[in-house]
Amino acid sequence: MCGIVGIVGREAVAGRLVDALRRLEYRGYDSAGVATIHGGRMDRRRAEGKLFNLEKLLDAEPLPGRIGIAHTRWATHGVPNETNAHPHFVEGVAVVHNGIIENFSELKDELLSEGAVFESQTDTEVVAHLLAKYLRQGLDRRAAMLAMLNRVAGAYALVVMFENDPGTIMAARFGPPLAIGHGQGEMFLGSDAIALSPFTNEITYLVDGDCAIMTAGGVEIVDYSGKPVQRRSQISQASAFMVDKGNHRHFMEKEIYEQPEIISHALSHYIDFAANTVKANDTAIDFGKLSGLAISACGTAYLSGLIGKYWFERYARLPVEIDVASEFRYRELPLSPSQAALFISQSGETADTLASLRYCKQEGLKIGAIVNVRESTIARESDAIFPILAGPEIGVASTKAFTCQLAVLAALAVGAGRARGTVSAEQETAMVRHLAEMPRIMSRVLNEVQPQIETLSRDLSRFKDVLYLGRGTSYPLALEGALKLKEISYIHAEGYAAGELKHGPIALIDENMPVIVIAPHDRFFEKTVSNMQEVAARGGRIIFITDEKGAAASKLPTMATITLPNVDEIIAPMIFSLPIQLLAYHTAVFMGTDVDQPRNLAKSVTVE
Ligand code: F6R
Repeated sequence: MCGIVGIVGREAVAGRLVDALRRLEYRGYDSAGVATIHGGRMDRRRAEGKLFNLEKLLDAEPLPGRIGIAHTRWATHGVPNETNAHPHFVEGVAVVHNGIIENFSELKDELLSEGAVFESQTDTEVVAHLLAKYLRQGLDRRAAMLAMLNRVAGAYALVVMFENDPGTIMAARFGPPLAIGHGQGEMFLGSDAIALSPFTNEITYLVDGDCAIMTAGGVEIVDYSGKPVQRRSQISQASAFMVDKGNHRHFMEKEIYEQPEIISHALSHYIDFAANTVKANDTAIDFGKLSGLAISACGTAYLSGLIGKYWFERYARLPVEIDVASEFRYRELPLSPSQAALFISQSGETADTLASLRYCKQEGLKIGAIVNVRESTIARESDAIFPILAGPEIGVASTKAFTCQLAVLAALAVGAGRARGTVSAEQETAMVRHLAEMPRIMSRVLNEVQPQIETLSRDLSRFKDVLYLGRGTSYPLALEGALKLKEISYIHAEGYAAGELKHGPIALIDENMPVIVIAPHDRFFEKTVSNMQEVAARGGRIIFITDEKGAAASKLPTMATITLPNVDEIIAPMIFSLPIQLLAYHTAVFMGTDVDQPRNLAKSVTVE
């Protein structure tokens, strides 16, 4: 999604603005722009494509100035080109925007009828025109800003600069996040604290309905009626992390290989390794007394929730209602305050997940957030926060956040089972021991399977379609495998419950569509092998991801068999995630795609 930065500084800002934009690249974008004010004149540079193009423009024609705003755009209204790139200028007003102005066409009609001339196809430009109109009508800048905010509807983070006021940046938030950074005699703002981490770690988060008036000396925050509101600043953890690739070619690769270490850090938050028990979790949700659980999330986070459903139902006998957040939010699902709701989100800012959370809150449910960004909106609006402690995830395709979400869900499900009397002390000890040995097994798997997967990826990259199959917790993994492959390699891939094969997809089986079967030697193994037989009988090529027992038990010919160590059921989804991630990664690298920032995708999806 779009990234926003602004600085009211003591020295030149253009270079720092571009540096901050680079830290927001992970969100996904297709054009970028920067504007500054210098010598009473506002100027901008904008370029389609990557930041490199914007930098070339700035090298050729530098932008001096100690105040500026900048933007990476992820196109919603209008194609990604220079004209649609932000900042948008109208009569000395500059605007950058993340989100969607839902009533933009109605506002545009009104402005057009009054003689406004639009340059771009964006919804953002109406904001600049509205501000210009109110200034022409004689309102001062602050009043014009508030009048504009009272006209626009939708989800937005807006940042505005006025040519005739080179000391102030105004901003507003209604939906997508905005963080204000406090410096020494300078102030910053950005879409998140990571963007601001080289400048400051003292951060104030705006909440929906806040308008900030920022000068070099500080920030004043008011509501849309102009009434002052107090927001406390906090010290962000974002600056504690070095966001670089280390020795890896891509952030995604680095994040895949970080998993053993990170997951052990995450587990130590939930597990008492000395006592072999799950630590008592946040008291705001009493899993022992719940009548049910609702889970909602998007994309990969939704798929971790789907695996969580299997665990909560099996180990804690707790019924789980789960849906993708874009459906959940509109389903008008009947809920009761005796249930709790869990929302899973790496970014903690996903618009649909947040809307589902607010629905459940309205229905009187206790809310739990399984998030990576602890300062995010979803975390702040929850009763209980279950951090996944994965550190910044920069690759757009989620990897380490997925396995950390799974680790947290596994610990919560075992803890819930204990609280509900469905998991005995002995079972708890056994499961905790398996969880504790997981980081070591992950390291081993990453080292052992990598060469084989790299070779296999070359073969896989020749195909146009791939099918993934799995049963039980391997079914959501099949969905995740297909999602990962399609999003970064652009090969069409589908995930299916293995038992569904014969209800339709079997019609597609031939030698041109490899079938990736995920089947640890668990209680479903024999049934999945029967489905493999059906594939083999129709000339399908099988890539079999199994464990040592499974490899020994199956005699079917395969295109490749990836053999993992035998592991307990509770950790199998995390272990089997690794070959799935590596297969997608190496296939994409082999095909030469933009692995960390795949086309059309955004890391933080703050629009519906
Ligand atoms: C896929 C991926 C996405 C996200 C989804 C939710 O690799 O990363 O499907 O999982 O956009 O994002 P969060 O977890 O930030 O709510």
